[in-house]
Amino acid sequence: NIAKHASKFEDLDVFFIRCIIEKMKKGAFCMNSKNPIGVFDSGLGGISVLHTMHSLLPNENLIYLGDSKYNPYGTKTKEEITKRCIAICDEFIKQDVKAIVIACNTATSACVKLLRDKYDVDIIGMEPALKVACDRGSNQRIAVWATELTLSEKKFANLMDRFKDEHHIVKVPCPKLVRMVEDDKLDDTNLVESVLKEYLAACDYKKLDSIVLGCTHFPFYTKYLERLCPNIHIIEGSVGTTLHTKDLLEQKGLLNRSDEIGSITWMNTMESKIELSKRLFKMLEVEA
Ligand code: DGL
Repeated sequence: NIAKHASKFEDLDVFFIRCIIEKMKKGAFCMNSKNPIGVFDSGLGGISVLHTMHSLLPNENLIYLGDSKYNPYGTKTKEEITKRCIAICDEFIKQDVKAIVIACNTATSACVKLLRDKYDVDIIGMEPALKVACDRGSNQRIAVWATELTLSEKKFANLMDRFKDEHHIVKVPCPKLVRMVEDDKLDDTNLVESVLKEYLAACDYKKLDSIVLGCTHFPFYTKYLERLCPNIHIIEGSVGTTLHTKDLLEQKGLLNRSDEIGSITWMNTMESKIELSKRLFKMLEVEA
């Protein structure tokens, strides 16, 4: 109807009305604080972020989508990863999410900007929490554990440029740590410890102040690392990401203020990984 009467208005009014209709089509004005937040990762790693979100924002409804069928992202090209991220975000938009959290450093490095340009909802990305490690003091010795793609992308090079003159920073790609989570190997103590020792040796760990876990699959190894190297600070970014999400939702009046505990909806491009997803989530609850 508005469009039918548009001819009565000045050009500028018509333009604004068209914009409003476009936004209405995209559901922008139907957004409600009870709408879910979509959280995704290349697989099961983002469950470490999902767990922090559910602990700090317990009233939010969350949808977790793991892309295990296409895991790992860390050794794929930017183009391949971008294609997968668009497919996932399209699915979230269909489900009327009020925000999307990319619970994956690799996907963030590959295409966060493109996703922000493409979609109307807030998109929250992740990057290795290097600043947190550097803020601990002067002349810090830091290892950043992440995927090959995260460590070789421009986004990380820019981050490193801010700190590399004042601190000693080493980059360690750790693909096996992604694989072992996806393959349900976290209880295999011998295997896990031998792989962790390999990566610790690669960064001369005895001299380190901290290890930054720059991949969301890695917080599942925190307990192991605390045992293997108790003097090293283990830093990960899920709390920062959650608080940032909270701020953005608050600014838009979209924080869920209900008293009820929010729901978690589990999705995975490999149906058989849902049971393992729930187990990993429980494991973090027990450890917390
Ligand atoms: N969990 C992902 C990250 O935070 C990537 C793992 C992968 O698929 O290689 O970077």
